[in-house]
Amino acid sequence: DFKNTDDYTTTNVINGIKYPPHVKRENLEALAKFDLRDDDIVIVAFPKSGTNWVLEIVTKTLVTSGKIGASSSDDILDKGKLEFQYSHELRPRHVILQECASPRVISTHLNLDSVPPGISNPQNKVKIIVVMRNPKDTVVSYYHFGQKCRSLDGRKPLPPWDEYFRIFLEGKNTYGCYFDHVLGWWQRRDDPHFLFLKYEDMKKDLPNAVRTVAAFLQVNLDDASIETIAHACTFANMKGILDNSRIYDRTVNARKGLVGDWKTMFTDEQKKLFDQKCKTKLEGSGLHFDFE
Ligand code: A3P
Repeated sequence: DFKNTDDYTTTNVINGIKYPPHVKRENLEALAKFDLRDDDIVIVAFPKSGTNWVLEIVTKTLVTSGKIGASSSDDILDKGKLEFQYSHELRPRHVILQECASPRVISTHLNLDSVPPGISNPQNKVKIIVVMRNPKDTVVSYYHFGQKCRSLDGRKPLPPWDEYFRIFLEGKNTYGCYFDHVLGWWQRRDDPHFLFLKYEDMKKDLPNAVRTVAAFLQVNLDDASIETIAHACTFANMKGILDNSRIYDRTVNARKGLVGDWKTMFTDEQKKLFDQKCKTKLEGSGLHFDFE
């Protein structure tokens, strides 16, 4: 259905990248002047890479160590991304953030070129956590998420999976080409302001991920606290929070939480095409992903 595809690829394009309707041009432009604070913590991820998971780990780490109150953790968790403004919201998130108490936990799906300069080229003490997930599971998660959001909103559904797969492979999906997105952020891998986390590593050893986050945030936690946070942040234990969240981005968020779910959608031919694309785009970058 080309009509459907065309509609999907051409609406709300800003600087050559398609965005969902709650990302508006004037808000993206205003981000050039967004002021970062020394104690800001920024979580960056391509959509469906585990953004909410890391947000939960970071807030639980800050609450446990007493850096933020338990009540403000709810505030943080129920706020959208830096670039969002839903149709029912009078003010964009970047404006509301100016009034938030420190330390702020800011999350975004934007690429390196679209974020405020204080994030792409941080000075002072701003801490940035980049979350990455293997692209096969990311595209499958994004597809299911998109269908669900669109049906809740009464928007046109996404094209069928085969067509969506092709759009993603060509980088014409919302938030732009996955590979360019991760490679952009990966340029900052040696910068001490940045921590890179991978979804698959977090699945393998969550306490270790919590320990890494705490060390990066310079927060002292004993082993028992680390275990408690990791336990609270397993998929099963987070699913309730995500399902009951007041904001829509989170209510449709918790789906399966698995590594390798792409196998339920990919045909052999799609696997071949995708592997080829990964090779072309990632070869020589030093960036590798686990797919199972
Ligand atoms: P699936 O659709 O594969 O289940 P984001 O927060 O960036 O939108 O990412 C959403 C993905 O992260 C979803 O993937 C969601 O289920 C998964 N996720 C959320 N919390 C998780 C957790 N605690 N453990 C594992 N995966 C989690």
